[in-house]
Amino acid sequence: MCGIVGYLGFRRADQVIISALKRLEYRGYDSWGVAVKHGNGLELIKRVGAIGDVENYSLAEGNIGIGHTRWATHGKPSEINAHPHTDCNNKIAVVHNGIISNFQSLREDLKSRGHEFTSETDTEVIAHLIEEEYRGDLKEAMMKAVERLKGSYAIVVMHVDKEELVAVRYKSPLVIGIGDGECFIASDVPAVLDYTNRVIYLEDGDIVKMWNNGFIIWNNGKEVERKIDTIPWSIEDSEKGGYEHFMLKEIHETPRVIEDTLFEYLSEDIDIDVSFSAGISEIVFVACGTSYHASLIGRYLIEKLTGIPARVEFASEFIYNPPPISRTLVIAITQSGETADTLEAMRIAKKHGARVVAIVNVLGSTATRIADYILYTRAGPEISVAATKSFIAQLIVLYLLALKLSKLPGSEIEKLIEELRIMPEIVRRILEHEEKIEQIAEEIANFEDMMYIGRGIGVPIAMEGALKMKEISYIHAEAYPAGELKHGPFALLGKHTPVIALLIPDETYEIMLNNIKEVKARESLVVAVADEDDAEVEKYVDFVIRVPKTNSVFTAVTHSVALQLLAYYTARKRGCEIDKPRNLAKSVTVE
Ligand code: M6R
Repeated sequence: MCGIVGYLGFRRADQVIISALKRLEYRGYDSWGVAVKHGNGLELIKRVGAIGDVENYSLAEGNIGIGHTRWATHGKPSEINAHPHTDCNNKIAVVHNGIISNFQSLREDLKSRGHEFTSETDTEVIAHLIEEEYRGDLKEAMMKAVERLKGSYAIVVMHVDKEELVAVRYKSPLVIGIGDGECFIASDVPAVLDYTNRVIYLEDGDIVKMWNNGFIIWNNGKEVERKIDTIPWSIEDSEKGGYEHFMLKEIHETPRVIEDTLFEYLSEDIDIDVSFSAGISEIVFVACGTSYHASLIGRYLIEKLTGIPARVEFASEFIYNPPPISRTLVIAITQSGETADTLEAMRIAKKHGARVVAIVNVLGSTATRIADYILYTRAGPEISVAATKSFIAQLIVLYLLALKLSKLPGSEIEKLIEELRIMPEIVRRILEHEEKIEQIAEEIANFEDMMYIGRGIGVPIAMEGALKMKEISYIHAEAYPAGELKHGPFALLGKHTPVIALLIPDETYEIMLNNIKEVKARESLVVAVADEDDAEVEKYVDFVIRVPKTNSVFTAVTHSVALQLLAYYTARKRGCEIDKPRNLAKSVTVE
Protein backbone atom coordinates (compact mmCIF):
# COMPACT_ATOMS: atom_id res chain seq x y z
CA MET A 1 0.00 0.00 0.00
CA CYS A 2 1.41 3.35 -0.95
CA GLY A 3 2.25 5.91 1.72
CA ILE A 4 1.77 9.66 1.45
CA VAL A 5 3.36 12.50 3.39
CA GLY A 6 2.98 16.27 3.04
CA TYR A 7 4.66 18.93 5.18
CA LEU A 8 4.48 22.72 5.62
CA GLY A 9 6.23 24.51 8.46
CA PHE A 10 9.52 25.83 9.70
CA ARG A 11 11.70 22.71 9.41
CA ARG A 12 13.56 21.44 6.36
CA ALA A 13 10.81 19.69 4.42
CA ASP A 14 13.11 17.08 2.83
CA GLN A 15 14.33 15.76 6.18
CA VAL A 16 10.86 15.72 7.75
CA ILE A 17 9.32 14.00 4.74
CA ILE A 18 11.99 11.35 4.29
CA SER A 19 11.93 10.46 7.98
CA ALA A 20 8.11 10.40 7.91
CA LEU A 21 8.21 8.10 4.87
CA LYS A 22 10.47 5.77 6.83
CA ARG A 23 7.75 5.61 9.46
CA LEU A 24 5.44 4.27 6.73
CA GLU A 25 7.89 1.58 5.61
CA TYR A 26 5.87 -1.11 7.41
CA ARG A 27 3.21 -0.69 4.69
CA GLY A 28 5.65 -2.10 2.15
CA TYR A 29 6.95 -0.25 -0.93
CA ASP A 30 9.13 -0.77 -3.94
CA SER A 31 10.13 2.82 -4.70
CA TRP A 32 9.81 6.28 -3.21
CA GLY A 33 10.15 9.97 -3.96
CA VAL A 34 10.02 13.48 -2.54
CA ALA A 35 9.36 16.94 -4.03
CA VAL A 36 10.34 20.13 -2.22
CA LYS A 37 9.43 23.67 -3.21
CA HIS A 38 12.32 26.10 -3.19
CA GLY A 39 12.02 29.61 -4.50
CA ASN A 40 9.75 29.25 -7.48
CA GLY A 41 10.94 25.83 -8.48
CA LEU A 42 10.51 22.20 -7.50
CA GLU A 43 13.30 19.81 -6.60
CA LEU A 44 12.55 16.11 -6.85
CA ILE A 45 14.24 12.92 -5.82
CA LYS A 46 13.00 9.46 -6.82
CA ARG A 47 14.54 6.12 -5.99
CA VAL A 48 13.81 2.41 -6.38
CA GLY A 49 14.29 0.25 -3.28
CA ALA A 50 14.62 1.06 0.38
CA ILE A 51 15.12 4.58 1.73
CA GLY A 52 18.02 3.76 4.06
CA ASP A 53 19.48 6.61 6.12
CA VAL A 54 17.69 9.95 6.02
CA GLU A 55 21.04 11.75 6.21
CA ASN A 56 22.04 10.30 2.82
CA TYR A 57 19.70 12.70 1.07
CA SER A 58 19.63 16.43 0.87
CA LEU A 59 17.38 18.39 -1.42
CA ALA A 60 17.28 22.15 -1.74
CA GLU A 61 16.26 23.97 1.41
CA GLY A 62 12.55 24.50 1.53
CA ASN A 63 9.74 24.24 4.03
CA ILE A 64 6.99 22.79 1.87
CA GLY A 65 7.05 19.37 0.29
CA ILE A 66 5.35 16.08 -0.43
CA GLY A 67 6.61 12.50 -0.49
CA HIS A 68 5.45 9.02 -1.32
CA THR A 69 6.32 5.36 -0.90
CA ARG A 70 4.98 3.40 -3.86
CA TRP A 71 3.60 -0.11 -3.99
CA ALA A 72 3.28 -0.53 -7.73
CA THR A 73 -0.16 -1.07 -9.24
CA HIS A 74 -0.03 0.53 -12.70
CA GLY A 75 3.44 0.47 -14.19
CA LYS A 76 6.43 -1.44 -12.89
CA PRO A 77 8.54 -0.25 -9.96
CA SER A 78 10.99 2.30 -11.42
CA GLU A 79 12.26 5.83 -10.80
CA ILE A 80 10.09 7.12 -13.62
CA ASN A 81 6.95 5.59 -12.14
CA ALA A 82 7.78 6.65 -8.58
CA HIS A 83 5.79 9.61 -7.24
CA PRO A 84 5.64 12.65 -7.04
CA HIS A 85 4.37 13.15 -10.59
CA THR A 86 4.45 16.55 -12.21
CA ASP A 87 2.61 18.47 -14.91
CA CYS A 88 4.13 19.48 -18.26
CA ASN A 89 5.80 22.59 -16.78
CA ASN A 90 7.09 21.08 -13.53
CA LYS A 91 5.06 23.52 -11.49
CA ILE A 92 2.62 21.08 -9.96
CA ALA A 93 3.60 17.94 -8.05
CA VAL A 94 1.19 15.23 -6.99
CA VAL A 95 1.32 12.15 -4.77
CA HIS A 96 -1.53 9.66 -4.84
CA ASN A 97 -2.65 6.53 -3.07
CA GLY A 98 -5.42 4.42 -4.66
CA ILE A 99 -6.42 3.52 -8.19
CA ILE A 100 -7.76 5.80 -10.92
CA SER A 101 -9.88 3.36 -12.91
CA ASN A 102 -10.57 5.66 -15.86
CA PHE A 103 -6.98 6.82 -16.24
CA GLN A 104 -6.54 5.35 -19.73
CA SER A 105 -9.31 7.43 -21.27
CA LEU A 106 -8.20 10.53 -19.34
CA ARG A 107 -4.64 10.01 -20.50
CA GLU A 108 -5.67 9.69 -24.13
CA ASP A 109 -7.81 12.79 -23.82
CA LEU A 110 -5.03 14.82 -22.16
CA LYS A 111 -2.48 13.62 -24.72
CA SER A 112 -4.74 14.70 -27.55
CA ARG A 113 -4.66 18.18 -26.04
CA GLY A 114 -0.88 18.25 -26.01
CA HIS A 115 0.02 17.00 -22.52
CA GLU A 116 3.22 15.02 -22.36
CA PHE A 117 3.41 12.00 -20.11
CA THR A 118 6.60 10.58 -18.70
CA SER A 119 5.39 7.63 -16.61
CA GLU A 120 3.10 4.62 -17.02
CA THR A 121 1.15 5.42 -13.86
CA ASP A 122 -2.51 6.24 -13.36
CA THR A 123 -1.42 9.05 -11.02
CA GLU A 124 0.22 11.21 -13.64
CA VAL A 125 -3.16 12.11 -15.17
CA ILE A 126 -4.00 13.93 -11.93
CA ALA A 127 -1.06 16.34 -12.31
CA HIS A 128 -2.08 17.12 -15.88
CA LEU A 129 -5.77 17.50 -15.02
CA ILE A 130 -4.88 20.00 -12.29
CA GLU A 131 -2.62 21.81 -14.74
CA GLU A 132 -5.58 22.13 -17.14
CA GLU A 133 -7.86 23.49 -14.44
CA TYR A 134 -5.40 25.78 -12.63
CA ARG A 135 -6.32 29.49 -12.80
CA GLY A 136 -4.47 30.65 -9.68
CA ASP A 137 -6.56 28.75 -7.13
CA LEU A 138 -5.08 25.31 -6.38
CA LYS A 139 -8.05 24.06 -4.37
CA GLU A 140 -10.50 24.97 -7.14
CA ALA A 141 -8.28 23.24 -9.70
CA MET A 142 -8.07 20.13 -7.52
CA MET A 143 -11.86 20.07 -7.11
CA LYS A 144 -12.43 20.29 -10.83
CA ALA A 145 -9.82 17.62 -11.55
CA VAL A 146 -11.29 15.26 -9.00
CA GLU A 147 -14.72 15.55 -10.63
CA ARG A 148 -13.26 13.71 -13.60
CA LEU A 149 -11.67 10.88 -11.62
CA LYS A 150 -13.22 7.48 -11.10
CA GLY A 151 -11.69 5.18 -8.54
CA SER A 152 -10.25 5.53 -5.10
CA TYR A 153 -7.79 8.18 -4.09
CA ALA A 154 -5.95 10.10 -1.45
CA ILE A 155 -4.13 12.90 -3.24
CA VAL A 156 -1.82 15.67 -2.06
CA VAL A 157 -0.78 18.41 -4.47
CA MET A 158 1.62 21.37 -4.32
CA HIS A 159 2.23 24.25 -6.73
CA VAL A 160 5.44 26.27 -7.00
CA ASP A 161 3.46 29.53 -6.80
CA LYS A 162 1.65 28.60 -3.59
CA GLU A 163 2.63 28.43 0.07
CA GLU A 164 0.06 25.70 0.64
CA LEU A 165 -0.81 22.07 0.11
CA VAL A 166 -4.18 20.81 -1.07
CA ALA A 167 -5.37 17.27 -0.38
CA VAL A 168 -8.45 15.20 -1.07
CA ARG A 169 -9.63 11.84 0.15
CA TYR A 170 -11.99 9.32 -1.41
CA LYS A 171 -11.84 5.70 -0.23
CA SER A 172 -8.14 5.95 0.66
CA PRO A 173 -7.13 7.17 4.10
CA LEU A 174 -5.60 10.55 4.90
CA VAL A 175 -4.86 12.16 8.26
CA ILE A 176 -3.89 15.72 9.09
CA GLY A 177 -1.23 16.15 11.78
CA ILE A 178 -1.55 19.45 13.63
CA GLY A 179 1.66 20.95 14.99
CA ASP A 180 2.64 24.36 16.34
CA GLY A 181 3.42 26.47 13.31
CA GLU A 182 3.53 23.37 11.13
CA CYS A 183 1.07 21.03 9.47
CA PHE A 184 1.37 17.48 8.19
CA ILE A 185 -0.74 15.28 6.01
CA ALA A 186 -0.19 11.56 5.66
CA SER A 187 -1.86 8.31 4.82
CA ASP A 188 -1.32 6.98 8.32
CA VAL A 189 -0.62 8.25 11.82
CA PRO A 190 2.94 6.89 12.31
CA ALA A 191 4.20 9.36 9.71
CA VAL A 192 3.40 12.33 11.94
CA LEU A 193 3.88 10.93 15.44
CA ASP A 194 7.48 12.13 15.78
CA TYR A 195 6.13 15.69 15.58
CA THR A 196 2.57 15.69 16.90
CA ASN A 197 -0.05 13.39 18.34
CA ARG A 198 -2.98 15.67 17.39
CA VAL A 199 -4.62 14.38 14.23
CA ILE A 200 -7.77 14.62 12.16
CA TYR A 201 -8.96 11.63 10.18
CA LEU A 202 -10.40 12.99 6.94
CA GLU A 203 -13.63 11.56 5.61
CA ASP A 204 -14.61 10.55 2.08
CA GLY A 205 -15.10 13.60 -0.11
CA ASP A 206 -13.10 15.90 2.19
CA ILE A 207 -10.85 18.39 0.50
CA VAL A 208 -8.38 20.32 2.62
CA LYS A 209 -6.21 23.38 2.07
CA MET A 210 -3.30 23.65 4.49
CA TRP A 211 -0.89 26.41 5.49
CA ASN A 212 1.89 26.15 8.02
CA ASN A 213 -0.41 27.34 10.79
CA GLY A 214 -3.87 26.35 9.73
CA PHE A 215 -6.18 24.50 7.41
CA ILE A 216 -9.74 24.48 6.11
CA ILE A 217 -11.72 21.37 5.25
CA TRP A 218 -14.63 21.33 2.80
CA ASN A 219 -17.01 18.57 1.90
CA ASN A 220 -19.65 18.83 -0.79
CA GLY A 221 -18.71 22.46 -1.33
CA LYS A 222 -19.27 23.43 2.34
CA GLU A 223 -16.73 24.14 5.03
CA VAL A 224 -16.83 21.38 7.67
CA GLU A 225 -15.39 20.83 11.15
CA ARG A 226 -13.69 17.54 11.92
CA LYS A 227 -12.89 16.18 15.36
CA ILE A 228 -9.28 16.40 16.54
CA ASP A 229 -8.07 13.11 18.03
CA THR A 230 -5.16 12.81 20.41
CA ILE A 231 -3.26 9.64 19.64
CA PRO A 232 -2.13 7.77 22.75
CA TRP A 233 -0.05 5.13 20.90
CA SER A 234 3.68 4.81 20.55
CA ILE A 235 5.13 4.86 17.03
CA GLU A 236 5.45 1.08 17.08
CA ASP A 237 1.82 0.59 18.08
CA SER A 238 0.65 3.03 15.49
CA GLU A 239 2.32 1.15 12.63
CA LYS A 240 -0.16 -1.55 13.47
CA GLY A 241 -2.94 1.03 13.49
CA GLY A 242 -3.45 0.45 17.20
CA TYR A 243 -3.81 -3.32 16.71
CA GLU A 244 -1.63 -5.58 18.77
CA HIS A 245 -0.43 -7.52 15.74
CA PHE A 246 -0.22 -7.05 12.00
CA MET A 247 -2.26 -10.21 11.56
CA LEU A 248 -5.27 -8.69 13.31
CA LYS A 249 -4.82 -5.40 11.47
CA GLU A 250 -4.71 -7.27 8.17
CA ILE A 251 -7.82 -9.31 8.99
CA HIS A 252 -9.54 -5.98 9.68
CA GLU A 253 -8.40 -4.67 6.31
CA THR A 254 -10.35 -7.43 4.56
CA PRO A 255 -13.50 -5.40 3.77
CA ARG A 256 -11.38 -2.75 2.07
CA VAL A 257 -9.37 -5.38 0.22
CA ILE A 258 -12.57 -6.95 -1.09
CA GLU A 259 -13.78 -3.52 -2.19
CA ASP A 260 -10.50 -2.79 -3.98
CA THR A 261 -10.37 -6.19 -5.69
CA LEU A 262 -14.00 -5.95 -6.79
CA PHE A 263 -13.36 -2.42 -7.92
CA GLU A 264 -10.56 -3.65 -10.16
CA TYR A 265 -12.72 -6.17 -12.00
CA LEU A 266 -16.34 -5.24 -11.43
CA SER A 267 -17.81 -2.02 -12.65
CA GLU A 268 -21.21 -2.54 -14.25
CA ASP A 269 -20.31 -6.13 -14.98
CA ILE A 270 -17.32 -8.44 -14.54
CA ASP A 271 -14.44 -6.85 -16.33
CA ILE A 272 -11.94 -9.70 -16.61
CA ASP A 273 -10.42 -10.41 -20.00
CA VAL A 274 -10.80 -14.21 -20.23
CA SER A 275 -9.37 -14.59 -23.73
CA PHE A 276 -6.89 -16.97 -22.09
CA SER A 277 -9.70 -19.49 -21.65
CA ALA A 278 -10.48 -19.90 -25.37
CA GLY A 279 -10.41 -23.57 -26.40
CA ILE A 280 -9.31 -24.98 -23.06
CA SER A 281 -10.49 -28.39 -21.95
CA GLU A 282 -9.33 -28.30 -18.34
CA ILE A 283 -7.87 -26.08 -15.66
CA VAL A 284 -4.99 -27.10 -13.40
CA PHE A 285 -4.27 -24.93 -10.37
CA VAL A 286 -0.75 -24.90 -8.92
CA ALA A 287 0.09 -23.24 -5.62
CA CYS A 288 1.46 -23.74 -2.11
CA GLY A 289 0.10 -23.34 1.42
CA THR A 290 -2.77 -20.91 1.78
CA SER A 291 -2.74 -20.24 -1.95
CA TYR A 292 -3.14 -24.00 -2.45
CA HIS A 293 -6.28 -23.86 -0.32
CA ALA A 294 -7.56 -20.93 -2.38
CA SER A 295 -6.93 -23.15 -5.42
CA LEU A 296 -9.04 -25.95 -3.93
CA ILE A 297 -11.86 -23.46 -3.51
CA GLY A 298 -11.16 -22.25 -7.05
CA ARG A 299 -11.56 -25.78 -8.35
CA TYR A 300 -14.87 -26.12 -6.51
CA LEU A 301 -16.13 -22.86 -7.99
CA ILE A 302 -14.93 -23.58 -11.50
CA GLU A 303 -16.46 -27.04 -11.57
CA LYS A 304 -19.71 -25.93 -9.92
CA LEU A 305 -20.24 -22.75 -11.86
CA THR A 306 -18.66 -23.47 -15.24
CA GLY A 307 -18.58 -27.24 -15.70
CA ILE A 308 -14.94 -27.03 -16.85
CA PRO A 309 -12.97 -29.92 -15.30
CA ALA A 310 -10.38 -28.63 -12.85
CA ARG A 311 -7.59 -30.12 -10.75
CA VAL A 312 -5.29 -28.77 -8.09
CA GLU A 313 -1.64 -29.68 -7.71
CA PHE A 314 0.81 -28.79 -4.98
CA ALA A 315 3.36 -26.77 -6.93
CA SER A 316 6.16 -28.75 -5.30
CA GLU A 317 4.70 -32.04 -6.60
CA PHE A 318 3.76 -30.74 -10.05
CA ILE A 319 7.46 -30.17 -10.57
CA TYR A 320 8.29 -33.91 -10.43
CA ASN A 321 5.21 -35.23 -12.08
CA PRO A 322 3.66 -32.71 -14.43
CA PRO A 323 0.34 -34.05 -15.70
CA PRO A 324 -0.10 -34.35 -19.47
CA ILE A 325 -0.95 -30.89 -20.70
CA SER A 326 -3.06 -30.49 -23.75
CA ARG A 327 -5.44 -27.57 -24.07
CA THR A 328 -4.79 -27.05 -20.37
CA LEU A 329 -4.98 -23.71 -18.66
CA VAL A 330 -2.66 -23.56 -15.67
CA ILE A 331 -3.64 -21.07 -12.98
CA ALA A 332 -0.88 -20.33 -10.51
CA ILE A 333 -1.99 -18.63 -7.32
CA THR A 334 0.62 -16.83 -5.26
CA GLN A 335 0.45 -13.86 -2.93
CA SER A 336 4.12 -12.97 -3.14
CA GLY A 337 4.72 -14.02 -6.73
CA GLU A 338 8.09 -15.29 -5.48
CA THR A 339 7.39 -18.77 -4.09
CA ALA A 340 10.08 -20.92 -5.69
CA ASP A 341 7.94 -24.06 -6.05
CA THR A 342 5.11 -22.15 -7.71
CA LEU A 343 7.50 -20.37 -10.08
CA GLU A 344 9.08 -23.65 -11.09
CA ALA A 345 5.67 -25.22 -11.67
CA MET A 346 4.76 -22.26 -13.88
CA ARG A 347 7.96 -22.64 -15.90
CA ILE A 348 7.38 -26.37 -16.35
CA ALA A 349 3.77 -25.79 -17.37
CA LYS A 350 4.93 -23.33 -20.02
CA LYS A 351 7.59 -25.73 -21.21
CA HIS A 352 4.85 -28.31 -21.74
CA GLY A 353 2.88 -25.84 -23.81
CA ALA A 354 0.20 -24.81 -21.31
CA ARG A 355 -1.16 -21.29 -21.08
CA VAL A 356 -0.34 -19.88 -17.66
CA VAL A 357 -2.39 -17.36 -15.71
CA ALA A 358 -1.08 -15.98 -12.41
CA ILE A 359 -3.35 -14.72 -9.66
CA VAL A 360 -0.84 -12.64 -7.78
CA ASN A 361 -0.66 -9.83 -5.25
CA VAL A 362 2.77 -8.30 -5.82
CA LEU A 363 3.12 -6.28 -8.99
CA GLY A 364 6.36 -6.83 -10.84
CA SER A 365 7.08 -10.07 -8.95
CA THR A 366 8.73 -12.97 -10.78
CA ALA A 367 5.38 -14.76 -11.29
CA THR A 368 4.10 -11.78 -13.26
CA ARG A 369 7.07 -12.06 -15.59
CA ILE A 370 6.59 -15.79 -16.22
CA ALA A 371 2.81 -15.77 -16.65
CA ASP A 372 1.08 -15.27 -19.99
CA TYR A 373 -1.79 -13.48 -18.22
CA ILE A 374 -2.00 -11.81 -14.85
CA LEU A 375 -4.95 -11.27 -12.55
CA TYR A 376 -3.93 -9.06 -9.64
CA THR A 377 -5.43 -9.29 -6.20
CA ARG A 378 -5.61 -5.92 -4.49
CA ALA A 379 -4.70 -6.93 -0.96
CA GLY A 380 -1.82 -4.48 -0.55
CA PRO A 381 1.30 -5.58 1.30
CA GLU A 382 0.79 -8.33 3.85
CA ILE A 383 3.31 -8.26 6.66
CA SER A 384 2.14 -11.00 8.98
CA VAL A 385 3.52 -14.36 7.85
CA ALA A 386 0.05 -15.85 8.13
CA ALA A 387 -1.86 -15.04 4.97
CA THR A 388 -5.29 -13.60 5.75
CA LYS A 389 -6.53 -10.68 3.65
CA SER A 390 -4.56 -11.90 0.63
CA PHE A 391 -6.34 -15.28 0.81
CA ILE A 392 -9.73 -13.55 0.75
CA ALA A 393 -8.61 -11.37 -2.16
CA GLN A 394 -7.61 -14.54 -4.05
CA LEU A 395 -11.09 -15.93 -3.42
CA ILE A 396 -12.69 -12.76 -4.75
CA VAL A 397 -10.74 -13.05 -8.02
CA LEU A 398 -11.72 -16.72 -8.23
CA TYR A 399 -15.42 -15.90 -7.75
CA LEU A 400 -15.20 -13.30 -10.48
CA LEU A 401 -13.35 -15.63 -12.82
CA ALA A 402 -15.74 -18.54 -12.23
CA LEU A 403 -18.75 -16.26 -12.70
CA LYS A 404 -17.30 -14.79 -15.85
CA LEU A 405 -16.77 -18.29 -17.30
CA SER A 406 -20.08 -19.53 -15.91
CA LYS A 407 -22.80 -21.04 -18.05
CA LEU A 408 -25.45 -20.36 -15.39
CA PRO A 409 -28.49 -18.35 -16.48
CA GLY A 410 -27.81 -14.61 -16.47
CA SER A 411 -30.26 -13.95 -13.64
CA GLU A 412 -28.46 -16.41 -11.34
CA ILE A 413 -25.08 -14.92 -12.17
CA GLU A 414 -26.43 -11.48 -11.42
CA LYS A 415 -27.78 -12.61 -8.07
CA LEU A 416 -24.37 -13.95 -7.12
CA ILE A 417 -22.67 -10.76 -8.30
CA GLU A 418 -25.04 -8.69 -6.19
CA GLU A 419 -24.14 -10.79 -3.19
CA LEU A 420 -20.47 -10.44 -3.96
CA ARG A 421 -20.88 -6.68 -3.92
CA ILE A 422 -22.07 -6.79 -0.32
CA MET A 423 -19.27 -9.06 0.92
CA PRO A 424 -17.33 -6.12 2.41
CA GLU A 425 -20.35 -5.34 4.58
CA ILE A 426 -20.80 -8.99 5.51
CA VAL A 427 -17.18 -9.26 6.62
CA ARG A 428 -17.54 -6.03 8.62
CA ARG A 429 -20.40 -7.64 10.50
CA ILE A 430 -18.20 -10.62 11.41
CA LEU A 431 -15.47 -8.29 12.63
CA GLU A 432 -17.94 -6.35 14.77
CA HIS A 433 -18.57 -9.49 16.83
CA GLU A 434 -15.05 -10.73 17.15
CA GLU A 435 -15.14 -10.67 20.96
CA LYS A 436 -17.42 -13.73 20.83
CA ILE A 437 -14.79 -15.55 18.79
CA GLU A 438 -12.19 -14.45 21.32
CA GLN A 439 -14.25 -16.01 24.14
CA ILE A 440 -14.49 -19.30 22.25
CA ALA A 441 -10.75 -19.20 21.53
CA GLU A 442 -10.15 -19.05 25.27
CA GLU A 443 -12.07 -22.32 25.65
CA ILE A 444 -9.86 -24.20 23.18
CA ALA A 445 -6.48 -22.56 23.74
CA ASN A 446 -5.21 -25.18 26.19
CA PHE A 447 -5.63 -28.18 23.91
CA GLU A 448 -2.70 -29.57 21.91
CA ASP A 449 -4.64 -31.26 19.11
CA MET A 450 -7.63 -30.19 17.05
CA MET A 451 -9.65 -31.53 14.18
CA TYR A 452 -11.36 -29.36 11.54
CA ILE A 453 -14.14 -30.98 9.56
CA GLY A 454 -16.37 -29.98 6.66
CA ARG A 455 -18.02 -31.25 3.54
CA GLY A 456 -18.06 -29.89 0.00
CA ILE A 457 -16.67 -26.39 -0.02
CA GLY A 458 -16.28 -26.84 3.73
CA VAL A 459 -13.29 -29.16 3.21
CA PRO A 460 -10.82 -26.60 1.79
CA ILE A 461 -12.15 -24.01 4.25
CA ALA A 462 -11.38 -26.49 7.04
CA MET A 463 -7.89 -27.08 5.61
CA GLU A 464 -7.12 -23.38 5.57
CA GLY A 465 -8.59 -22.94 9.07
CA ALA A 466 -6.38 -25.74 10.37
CA LEU A 467 -3.31 -24.30 8.66
CA LYS A 468 -3.93 -20.91 10.30
CA MET A 469 -4.34 -22.55 13.67
CA LYS A 470 -1.20 -24.68 13.48
CA GLU A 471 1.12 -22.07 12.05
CA ILE A 472 0.46 -19.38 14.64
CA SER A 473 -0.72 -21.24 17.77
CA TYR A 474 1.49 -24.34 17.33
CA ILE A 475 -1.52 -26.53 18.10
CA HIS A 476 -1.51 -29.67 16.00
CA ALA A 477 -4.61 -29.15 13.83
CA GLU A 478 -5.76 -31.55 11.14
CA ALA A 479 -8.51 -31.07 8.57
CA TYR A 480 -10.67 -33.87 7.22
CA PRO A 481 -13.75 -34.28 5.07
CA ALA A 482 -16.32 -35.14 7.75
CA GLY A 483 -17.23 -38.35 5.94
CA GLU A 484 -13.65 -39.60 6.29
CA LEU A 485 -13.63 -39.56 10.09
CA LYS A 486 -15.04 -43.04 10.32
CA HIS A 487 -12.20 -44.39 8.18
CA GLY A 488 -9.52 -43.67 10.76
CA PRO A 489 -9.44 -40.25 12.41
CA PHE A 490 -12.24 -41.17 14.81
CA ALA A 491 -9.52 -42.95 16.76
CA LEU A 492 -8.03 -39.55 17.60
CA LEU A 493 -11.21 -38.04 18.98
CA GLY A 494 -12.12 -37.71 22.62
CA LYS A 495 -12.16 -35.14 25.42
CA HIS A 496 -8.60 -34.10 24.55
CA THR A 497 -9.38 -33.17 20.90
CA PRO A 498 -11.83 -30.38 20.13
CA VAL A 499 -13.45 -30.43 16.70
CA ILE A 500 -14.19 -27.36 14.63
CA ALA A 501 -17.16 -28.20 12.40
CA LEU A 502 -18.14 -26.09 9.42
CA LEU A 503 -21.82 -25.95 8.54
CA ILE A 504 -22.57 -24.95 4.97
CA PRO A 505 -26.16 -24.10 4.04
CA ASP A 506 -26.34 -26.51 1.09
CA GLU A 507 -26.94 -30.18 0.41
CA THR A 508 -24.19 -31.13 2.90
CA TYR A 509 -25.93 -29.55 5.87
CA GLU A 510 -28.02 -32.45 7.20
CA ILE A 511 -25.28 -35.03 6.97
CA MET A 512 -22.85 -32.64 8.67
CA LEU A 513 -25.24 -32.47 11.62
CA ASN A 514 -25.12 -36.27 11.77
CA ASN A 515 -21.33 -36.18 11.71
CA ILE A 516 -21.37 -33.68 14.55
CA LYS A 517 -23.56 -36.02 16.60
CA GLU A 518 -21.07 -38.82 15.94
CA VAL A 519 -18.23 -36.59 17.09
CA LYS A 520 -20.12 -35.59 20.24
CA ALA A 521 -20.67 -39.29 20.97
CA ARG A 522 -16.84 -39.53 21.17
CA GLU A 523 -16.89 -36.75 23.80
CA SER A 524 -14.98 -34.15 21.79
CA LEU A 525 -15.81 -30.53 22.45
CA VAL A 526 -17.38 -29.15 19.26
CA VAL A 527 -17.19 -25.60 17.98
CA ALA A 528 -19.44 -25.03 14.95
CA VAL A 529 -19.21 -22.25 12.42
CA ALA A 530 -22.73 -21.66 11.15
CA ASP A 531 -24.90 -18.90 9.84
CA GLU A 532 -27.08 -16.64 11.96
CA ASP A 533 -30.31 -18.25 10.79
CA ASP A 534 -29.29 -21.75 11.81
CA ALA A 535 -31.43 -22.57 14.86
CA GLU A 536 -30.64 -26.28 14.75
CA VAL A 537 -26.92 -26.56 15.23
CA GLU A 538 -26.71 -25.21 18.79
CA LYS A 539 -28.64 -28.25 20.04
CA TYR A 540 -25.67 -30.47 19.25
CA VAL A 541 -22.51 -28.46 19.82
CA ASP A 542 -20.73 -26.69 22.67
CA PHE A 543 -20.14 -23.34 20.97
CA VAL A 544 -21.29 -21.70 17.74
CA ILE A 545 -19.42 -19.01 15.85
CA ARG A 546 -22.11 -17.14 13.96
CA VAL A 547 -21.58 -15.55 10.57
CA PRO A 548 -24.07 -13.74 8.33
CA LYS A 549 -26.06 -16.01 6.05
CA THR A 550 -24.87 -16.02 2.44
CA ASN A 551 -25.16 -18.20 -0.60
CA SER A 552 -23.19 -21.35 0.27
CA VAL A 553 -20.38 -20.53 -2.18
CA PHE A 554 -19.53 -17.39 -0.17
CA THR A 555 -19.00 -19.33 3.05
CA ALA A 556 -15.40 -19.60 1.86
CA VAL A 557 -15.17 -15.92 2.83
CA THR A 558 -17.38 -15.79 5.91
CA HIS A 559 -16.19 -19.00 7.55
CA SER A 560 -12.55 -18.32 6.68
CA VAL A 561 -12.56 -14.87 8.28
CA ALA A 562 -14.13 -16.41 11.40
CA LEU A 563 -11.47 -19.14 11.46
CA GLN A 564 -8.67 -16.60 10.99
CA LEU A 565 -9.94 -14.77 14.07
CA LEU A 566 -10.27 -18.04 15.99
CA ALA A 567 -6.64 -18.92 15.19
CA TYR A 568 -5.50 -15.41 16.05
CA TYR A 569 -7.17 -15.28 19.46
CA THR A 570 -6.12 -18.83 20.30
CA ALA A 571 -2.49 -18.01 19.51
CA ARG A 572 -2.75 -14.78 21.47
CA LYS A 573 -4.12 -16.59 24.50
CA ARG A 574 -1.17 -19.00 24.26
CA GLY A 575 1.26 -16.08 24.14
CA CYS A 576 2.65 -17.00 20.72
CA GLU A 577 4.66 -14.66 18.56
CA ILE A 578 1.87 -14.25 16.05
CA ASP A 579 3.28 -12.18 13.21
CA LYS A 580 6.49 -14.19 12.87
CA PRO A 581 5.80 -17.82 13.74
CA ARG A 582 8.83 -20.00 14.42
CA ASN A 583 10.50 -21.69 11.44
CA LEU A 584 8.38 -19.88 8.83
CA ALA A 585 9.06 -17.15 6.28
CA LYS A 586 6.60 -14.90 4.50
CA SER A 587 7.98 -15.73 1.13
CA VAL A 588 9.58 -19.13 0.52
CA THR A 589 12.10 -18.55 -2.22
CA VAL A 590 13.81 -21.94 -2.04
CA GLU A 591 12.46 -25.19 -3.43
O1 M6R B 1 3.23 -16.10 -1.62
P1 M6R B 1 2.53 -17.40 -1.85
O2 M6R B 1 1.05 -17.25 -1.85
O3 M6R B 1 3.02 -18.15 -3.02
O4 M6R B 1 2.92 -18.26 -0.56
C1 M6R B 1 2.57 -19.61 -0.47
C2 M6R B 1 2.65 -20.07 0.96
O5 M6R B 1 3.97 -20.04 1.41
C3 M6R B 1 1.78 -19.21 1.87
O6 M6R B 1 0.46 -19.18 1.40
C4 M6R B 1 1.77 -19.71 3.31
O7 M6R B 1 1.20 -20.99 3.37
C5 M6R B 1 1.01 -18.73 4.18
N1 M6R B 1 1.84 -17.63 4.53
C6 M6R B 1 0.45 -19.35 5.40
O8 M6R B 1 -0.36 -18.47 6.10
